[in-house]
Amino acid sequence: MAIYSVWNNKGGVGKSYLTFQVASEYARTHRGQRVLVIDLCPQANSSSMLLGGILAGEHHLSQIHQGNQRSTISGYMEERIFSPYANPRSGGRFSTRVHDFNNMVPDNLYLVVGDEQLEIQASRITAATNPGPQDAWRIVHTWISDLIADIQHAWDQEQITVFIDCNPSFSIYTELALSASDRLIVPFSADGSSKRAVRAVLSLVYGVQRYPGQAQSEFFLNTQRYRMSSPQLYMYVGNRLTQASGSSAAAFKSVVNEIGDEIHAVWQSNAGLFCIHPNGAPVPANKRAFKQMFQYEVNDANTASVVSGASGIPIASLTSGKRMVLGKQVVVNQSQLDKQVPNIQQLAAAIE
Ligand SMILES: Nc1ncnc2c1ncn2[C@@H]1O[C@H](COP(=O)(O)OP(=O)(O)O)[C@@H](O)[C@H]1O
Ligand SMILES: [Mg+2]
Repeated sequence: MAIYSVWNNKGGVGKSYLTFQVASEYARTHRGQRVLVIDLCPQANSSSMLLGGILAGEHHLSQIHQGNQRSTISGYMEERIFSPYANPRSGGRFSTRVHDFNNMVPDNLYLVVGDEQLEIQASRITAATNPGPQDAWRIVHTWISDLIADIQHAWDQEQITVFIDCNPSFSIYTELALSASDRLIVPFSADGSSKRAVRAVLSLVYGVQRYPGQAQSEFFLNTQRYRMSSPQLYMYVGNRLTQASGSSAAAFKSVVNEIGDEIHAVWQSNAGLFCIHPNGAPVPANKRAFKQMFQYEVNDANTASVVSGASGIPIASLTSGKRMVLGKQVVVNQSQLDKQVPNIQQLAAAIE
C-alpha cells in the first residue's frame, strides 16, 4: 500500500501526463490489485486523459460533473466542508471505474474525478482549518487520507496503490494531497526555471532553507507542530528531454544533473527525507548510486504523446499507424513507440 503524490510547484512539467501514463502502466502490470488516481487539480487534465482524451474524455467529464450526486473530488470536499471534523466516512462512493468510460485503460484502474469547483472550494477548505477545535488544521489535513481509507474499505482491499495528481500551486488542496501521501514524485522539465521550482518544493514541504532565517511554510511548521508525516522523496524525473543528440540534448543533461546535485546535497544533510527503493535496497553510498536510485529521465514522446493523451490510450497500448486527432491526421511511428514505451515502462517498474 503506497500513496504517491505527483507534484512540482511549476505547471507544464508533466505531472498529469505522467500520472496518466504511470498509473495506467502500473495497473496493467499489477492486474491483481486496484490502482486509484485522485485528481486534485481543478484543471482535471489527468481525468480527461484517463476518461478518453480530448473528445470522449471531456464529454465524460461533463457527464460526471452534471450527474445528480457529484461523484468527483468536489463532491467529497463539499461533504467535508459541511462536516469538517467528524468524518462522514462517505468517501467510498466517489471513485469511478475508468474502464467503464474508456476501455483502453485497464479495468483495475479507478479515479476520483477532478473538478474545477475545487478552486471555488479552496477558501472554504482553508476556513475550516481555523478556528474550530484546537487541532482543526491537522484534522482538515487528513481529509484525503480519510477519502482513501473509505475507498479502500468499500473495496475491501488491503493492497492498493494510489497516485495523486496535484495542482502546481501550493494551495490548500495541494497540502491535503501531500499530507495524505507517503511518497513524492517530482517531475521537472529541463529549462532554466526548473531549478527554482525544485528548490521551492524542497523548501515548502521539507523546510529546506537556502540561507539562515529564510521563512518556512505554514505547511512545514504545522506538520512539525502536529507531528504529521510528510511524503518521502521517491523520485525526481527530468521529463520531455530531447532525444536529438547535440547541444540541446547536452544542455538538458546538464540541467538535470545540476538539479540532481542540488537534491543530492539535501540527501547528504537529511537522508531521512528520502524513500530508499526498492524495498531492502542498500543505502546509496555515493552520488552516482544516489542518482541511480532517485533520478529518472523521460524523453519527449512527440506525436506518440499527443495521440496518447488526446485519445486516452496509454502509450504502452498505442499502436503505430495513422490516427486522427481533432480532425487532423497524424502518424505514430513504430520506431518512436519502441523508444518511448520502455521509458514509461521503466518508470512504472521503479514504483513499488
Ligand atoms: N514526455 C512527454 N513527451 C511529450 N509531451 C509531454 C511529455 N510530458 C508531458 N507532455 C505534454 O506537456 C504538456 C504539459 O504536461 P502536463 O502533464 O499537463 O503538465 P502539468 O500537469 O505538470 O501541468 C501536455 O501537453 C503534455 O501532454
Ligand atoms: Mg496537471
